[in-house]
Amino acid sequence: MYQQIRSVVEADFASVNDFIIDQLHSEVSLVESIGHYIVEAGGKRLRPILVLLAARCCEVKNDQHIPLAAVIEFIHTATLLHDDVVDMSTLRRGQPTVNAEWDNPSSVLVGDFIYSRAFQILVKIGDMRIMEIIADTTNKIAEGEVLQLISKNNPQSSEQNYLQVIKNKTAILFQAAAQCGAILGGAVAPIENALKRFGMHLGTAFQLIDDVLDYDGDTEALGKNIGDDLAEGKPTLPLIYAMEKGNTKQQAIIKQGLQNNALSTDILQDVLQIVRDSGALDYTRQLAQQEAAAAIKCLEALDDSVYRAALQKMVHFSVDRSS
Ligand code: IPE
Ligand code: IPE
Ligand code: MG
Ligand code: MG
Repeated sequence: MYQQIRSVVEADFASVNDFIIDQLHSEVSLVESIGHYIVEAGGKRLRPILVLLAARCCEVKNDQHIPLAAVIEFIHTATLLHDDVVDMSTLRRGQPTVNAEWDNPSSVLVGDFIYSRAFQILVKIGDMRIMEIIADTTNKIAEGEVLQLISKNNPQSSEQNYLQVIKNKTAILFQAAAQCGAILGGAVAPIENALKRFGMHLGTAFQLIDDVLDYDGDTEALGKNIGDDLAEGKPTLPLIYAMEKGNTKQQAIIKQGLQNNALSTDILQDVLQIVRDSGALDYTRQLAQQEAAAAIKCLEALDDSVYRAALQKMVHFSVDRSS
């Protein structure tokens, strides 16, 4: 399915990849080494593909969607370099994280380089509305990560708080990708708005599934370690739901799991079992399905095309994915 989605924008996609490699250039060799290391590890490139598809849906007349797609992927990559330090993660895209292979300062600082490179490219695109959207988006992502930070280890954290975290830290970048693609395509307001809302619903579904996969996925397929969210004390929806539905003994185990960062594998296994038995994973998947349905509904505003069909497939891929 992923290949089918990508294939409709294959030529654009190749241009984006070339552009990304080109823009990693730096006078400082460590920047280039780390830049190439993280970028060439792959990644699904879903967000830049979303830019391309949104722009193509709106029959974009120039090539500005190529640098814009790179901007979105650079912002994503920079947040990953920072996120892996904050989360103390050791595996990303099937290889050691930059903080594990080098160290925290390198990951943070090269993250800053890639972040600011994104803004340099953005200025060259020169569209004031797009600049405003991207500036607001990166600001919200930072806010989302901080909101998540202060929810850490808190077993009382609510579903509402969780939804605010994932909309800010993840969904908003999907929203910006789709909306800015539409703007470059010269979309009229209702179409731009439909694609914007599409991005928000898609991104929310995407993160909900990411949080299911952290309990129920496969390390090899995902390219990152599962069980990390619990180990990091993150109250994601599967855990919030299990906490709510569990009996007093189960609640105590979850609480212990969430508050104890240096987890023994026994507690980890116990919490995993409670989460699985509580129906929390089904519940989270159902919510993702609702978001997916809402995303697909937004596409009704668009004319039928291979690009719109690929956007629909991207929704299905995001909820059915194992990687
Ligand atoms: C990982 O995103 C970060 C989240 C928002 C969950 P992706 O799963 O899209 O990461 P890559 O780019 O494909 O590695
Ligand atoms: C990803 O959050 C969101 C951002 C990087 C802003 P996570 O911490 O849940 O993503 P993974 O699991 O590390 O990919
Ligand atoms: Mg993380
Ligand atoms: Mg995660």
